[in-house]
Amino acid sequence: MTRTIRLAVVAGDGIGPEVVAEGLKVLGAVLDGSDVQVEQTPFDLGAARWHRTGETLTDADLEAIADHDAILLGAIGDPSVPSGVLERGLLLKLRFALDHYVNLRPSTLYPGVPTPLARPGEIDFVVVREGTEGPYVGNGGAIRAGTPHEVANEVSVNTAYGVERVVRDAFARAQARPRKKLTLVHKHNVLVHAGHLWRRTVEAVAAEFPDVAVDYAHVDAATIYLVTDPARFDVIVTDNLFGDILTDLAAAITGGIGLAASGNINPDRTTPSMFEPVHGSAPDIAGQAKADPTATVLSVALLLEHLGLGDEARRISDAVAADIAGRDGTTRSTSQVGDALAARVRS
Ligand code: NAI
Ligand code: MG
Repeated sequence: MTRTIRLAVVAGDGIGPEVVAEGLKVLGAVLDGSDVQVEQTPFDLGAARWHRTGETLTDADLEAIADHDAILLGAIGDPSVPSGVLERGLLLKLRFALDHYVNLRPSTLYPGVPTPLARPGEIDFVVVREGTEGPYVGNGGAIRAGTPHEVANEVSVNTAYGVERVVRDAFARAQARPRKKLTLVHKHNVLVHAGHLWRRTVEAVAAEFPDVAVDYAHVDAATIYLVTDPARFDVIVTDNLFGDILTDLAAAITGGIGLAASGNINPDRTTPSMFEPVHGSAPDIAGQAKADPTATVLSVALLLEHLGLGDEARRISDAVAADIAGRDGTTRSTSQVGDALAARVRS
């Protein structure tokens, strides 16, 4: 029986359309000859739409996007638009409105990838970053702004419900991995209110996963370990802000932003999950066919995994690993990398 995946495509700004084209190329290649079809709906969102209409993401856009099985996103943001307008009004709005409470960011050091670490060891961990709470919810405000008496508050929101659901997801992911290890990263020695809620929640949920080993690191110590001993990590669960920072460091030690993939996931599957490279729209190289599409291709693998197509996902990550191992410093264009990956998943 034929299965159809209804895919919302938000190519976005800058290098977004360039890398998304290659992601879709590899997706087509891996499903070629299978009984899975992809029906794509492109969405015109980002800087061009905003300049034309003043809109970032309307209710009608949101409703149309929600009526899909998954979302593939390139990147959002352009120097011609005031900072924050598209990032908050489009990207964060999608993540919050679609309740993407798991922000999943795997970090693997593929053989042959240059890393700035002298002794990297075997790096293969995933960060489960909370995606709908913390300091990113916009709970705050300023009074007397611009005066010497300015007061600025940015309140970190942590609910028992929100923490428990993301912790539970992280435990389930840890249980499904060979090492079965979960590390909570927080700062509960100083941020005592939120920190203790996270700590108690991890302790409570751990009882349901007796085969998962539980560990804890303060976020400042975690940045040391990510540089000195990243192999110690398997699954990291952490809040929205700590996760944002740690995953940039994680990308840096595993070969950089051109390889870092992510999923904004609603594990309850009440809305479509969204898959995107961690990088932004890279205006400095946009339109020059210089962008590495690998992060987007790996995001497509996460998308397939989420939709239950694990074999296809593995064929893509194997193709990426093989391609990376063969990289010899020769410059390839964005589409040449995409062509090479598409050819590998077919063979
Ligand atoms: P960026 O990730 O776009 O670029 C940082 C550096 O990495 C640049 O030198 C860029 O050329 C390089 N780079 C990024 N992706 C690459 C790729 N695939 N291949 C090769 N090189 C790559 O971050 P930046 O410059 O801070 O932000 C640019 C715009 O993107 C801003 O408007 C920002 O708000 C937005 N942004 C959007 C994100 C998203 O859509 N999820 C995430 C991060 C930033
Ligand atoms: Mg970031």
